[in-house]
Amino acid sequence: MKAANGFNENSVSTTPLEVRPRRMRFPYEEMTSRFFYDDNPLKSALIASLSSTFPAGEGEFIESVRLFQDKVDDPELSTQIRGFIGQEAHHSQQHKDFNRALQKMGFDAVRVEAIFEKDLAWSIRKANPGQRLAFTVAIEHLTAILAEEFLTNPARLEGMEPAICQLLQWHAVEEIEHKAVAFDLYMSQVGNRKLLRLAMRVGLFMLIYRTSKYMCFMLAWSRTMPTWKQFMAFGRFMFGKNGLFRALRANYRAYFRADFHPWDHDNRALIETWKQKIYQQKYDLAKEKAA
Ligand SMILES: [Fe+2]
Ligand SMILES: [Fe+2]
Repeated sequence: MKAANGFNENSVSTTPLEVRPRRMRFPYEEMTSRFFYDDNPLKSALIASLSSTFPAGEGEFIESVRLFQDKVDDPELSTQIRGFIGQEAHHSQQHKDFNRALQKMGFDAVRVEAIFEKDLAWSIRKANPGQRLAFTVAIEHLTAILAEEFLTNPARLEGMEPAICQLLQWHAVEEIEHKAVAFDLYMSQVGNRKLLRLAMRVGLFMLIYRTSKYMCFMLAWSRTMPTWKQFMAFGRFMFGKNGLFRALRANYRAYFRADFHPWDHDNRALIETWKQKIYQQKYDLAKEKAA
């Protein structure tokens, strides 16, 4: 059935572009402080905390997709799944490198990585393949809308050390490129939208709870006590008039529409802008080798 937006509503493979991993490497060693984000310990710990969850989290995305990979008979979707796995595996690797650099700087993101691995294993211990894929779809939507915000509103990343900014922008671009792959797979193999919505509510709660917990760990382990001014700046950054929560709200809600599809919202232009204005060949391993 065709939806009003022209997409095939309950079916597979509606991604309007090629999903292909780029092999990048960013100079994390150029980071000058663990307060790499606006010189603010809380904003920096937030990104460090998210980064700590990426290696195991993206590993779970890959695993949950692989559980259904053999059942796919649409060649286009199969190709996209391979691209998705390649992109997520490479993100995982780059965030591991970033986490090691953070550890050297005094935020023990590597220790948090190990804690999250256990937390995640506990969370999925009783989940069936359909439930695991539903969580992947939900968290993929959250990463895609965060990615959109980072690329739409460059002011959001102001004050961030350039290497880390480049890492997040590249990651954001690929999150947008593959935003519908797990969704299309889920709709073709499981198709239960009620479960998708439940997974989003539980997934968002767990994400906020764990990210806050890991932020506290990293600040406590490094004996960092933010100043009042830094607390206030972080509060505005998250909950203020132009804060992250408000910026993400409409895109978050779109997920709960009865006929939602990630490409209802076509934001391919952001990828083009990145290619033309942000991408730097010196961080692209394939291009560097060829040059
Ligand atoms: Fe990713
Ligand atoms: Fe992703």
